[in-house]
Amino acid sequence: MKNVLVIYYSQSGQLEEIARNIAKPLLDSNEINVQFHEIKLEKPFPFPWNNDAFFGAFPESFLQIPTPLLPVPEAIVNTKFDLILLNYQVWYLSPSIPITSFLKSSEAKIIFNNTPVVTIHGSRNMWIMAQEKVKVLLKENNALLKGNIALVDRRGNLISVVTIVEWMFSGVKKRYLGIFPLPGVSDKDINESTKFGYPILTGLIENNYDNLQQKLVALDAVRIRPFLITVDKTGNKIFSKWSNLLITKKQSRKAWTKVFKVYLLLAIWLISPIVYILHLIAYPLRIRKINKDIQYYKGIN
Ligand SMILES: Cc1cc2nc3c(=O)[nH]c(=O)nc-3n(C[C@H](O)[C@H](O)[C@H](O)COP(=O)(O)O)c2cc1C
Repeated sequence: MKNVLVIYYSQSGQLEEIARNIAKPLLDSNEINVQFHEIKLEKPFPFPWNNDAFFGAFPESFLQIPTPLLPVPEAIVNTKFDLILLNYQVWYLSPSIPITSFLKSSEAKIIFNNTPVVTIHGSRNMWIMAQEKVKVLLKENNALLKGNIALVDRRGNLISVVTIVEWMFSGVKKRYLGIFPLPGVSDKDINESTKFGYPILTGLIENNYDNLQQKLVALDAVRIRPFLITVDKTGNKIFSKWSNLLITKKQSRKAWTKVFKVYLLLAIWLISPIVYILHLIAYPLRIRKINKDIQYYKGIN
């Protein structure tokens, strides 16, 4: 009997649905015992979000400052798992605060130690650098990354900003104004995500994950849009400055957060289209580097 732990946190239920769909082939196998662990916070974030909470979560998200969690059940801490499926979402180009907090916990040190891990994320579309940060946190826990599945909103970058923000602030997954598409990972991608569970199951049974990422990529587990790599990297540089400024503010933090919000809106609606045009112009000159990046981010090294 093999033991698998599925770790997740989800506000809307999207990531939980993805987590359960991918785990289905493992749940259906008689040889595998699957346990789910939902990360719970001492002080939960609101859902739907309000303005103050949403923008207020930025510095701690980006600087990866943990928040207190409810304890992990003893039965989980005391089990040696053969595989962990780590389901996470991205907040401000970083793993969400609940995930960071879990990965930085003393329990994670025990649970992840020397254990194969597949990372699974459901984000808007900007997950590249968050995954790099998760890789570091996994290494710090002596975990062994074996696969990565990136589920995203496949609509245009700016359309998904509108629809996902609307969804986060209303708590309802609907077509905004009746004209925008549904927000988030599509129902089709969520329903079909069970397909990723089969190569994971094979790897687990054979205790060999050597080709797992290749198999997942062949199933369309990771799509890279080169423009988003540029935006993500640039965004990280800018967020680093803003988060380090905001975290030092005490009484004036609320006022500064409002300034950050205005900046963020400008960056999304003005700067990112300019970056996109520059990216298109430079594309032929950067083609080698772009192809190298695509290969790298599709992988797990
Ligand atoms: C505060 C906040 C910040 C977010 N920042 C990002 C981001 O930087 N990149 C991204 O692709 N998605 C971002 N998202 C979308 C989430 O990754 C995720 O898709 C969404 O919150 C739904 O996840 P759920 O399963 O927890 O409901 C953000 C969401 C929230 C609430």
